[in-house]
Amino acid sequence: MKNYVIIISGRGSNMEALLTANLPGRCAAVISNRPAAAGLVYAARQGVATVVVDHKAYPDRAAFDAALAAEVERHQPDLVLLAGFMRILSPAFVRRFAGRMLNIHPSLLPAFPGLRTHAQALENGVRLHGCTVHFVTPDLDTGPIVIQAAVPVLDDDTPESLAARVLAEEHRIYPQAARWFLEGCLHVDGLCVRLSRPGPIPAALSFPVG
Ligand code: GRF
Repeated sequence: MKNYVIIISGRGSNMEALLTANLPGRCAAVISNRPAAAGLVYAARQGVATVVVDHKAYPDRAAFDAALAAEVERHQPDLVLLAGFMRILSPAFVRRFAGRMLNIHPSLLPAFPGLRTHAQALENGVRLHGCTVHFVTPDLDTGPIVIQAAVPVLDDDTPESLAARVLAEEHRIYPQAARWFLEGCLHVDGLCVRLSRPGPIPAALSFPVG
């Protein structure tokens, strides 16, 4: 059975969605860079091994990334899932797990990389916002896109209300993307991801307009 590792920094609701999705693989560990990450408590209750690699204990990014990489490698994962991990990873780390590391980002990439995505969506007057699961490459929030989900932006939205609508979609599409990866259905072709699986390719996208 394939192994995966989830890396978090905080609440861990995407991690929870992954852990409860009956993925065709075993979660070898949940790793957090913050000792107080709420997600660690949930993971431990589910019987998943939890590990803290506290970035504050290291003198610089290179040292932290080396420690994090060593911890991830210890579990020999087929797949590394960044789920609300709030640190920028060095190119060396990313290269080490190239082709087997996914991230969830709360915008329809390539729009709104970085932070404050929901506020940016409102400031820019977009009518559709959403989330993206992508392979991780050295540049921030780029990398071949696996799946996206879109939600409408409503006139009375606040960053918080929009974030909640997007988060519900994150919880749908991240387990889907992880499942495809673990089933061996994802093939990266340049910036594009091809899906090989029996049956029609799902359009993937919920559109709760109304
Ligand atoms: C999510 O919106 C994720 O897309 C972003 O940070 C948030 C983390 O939430 N990178 P959670 O920790 O998964 O609840």
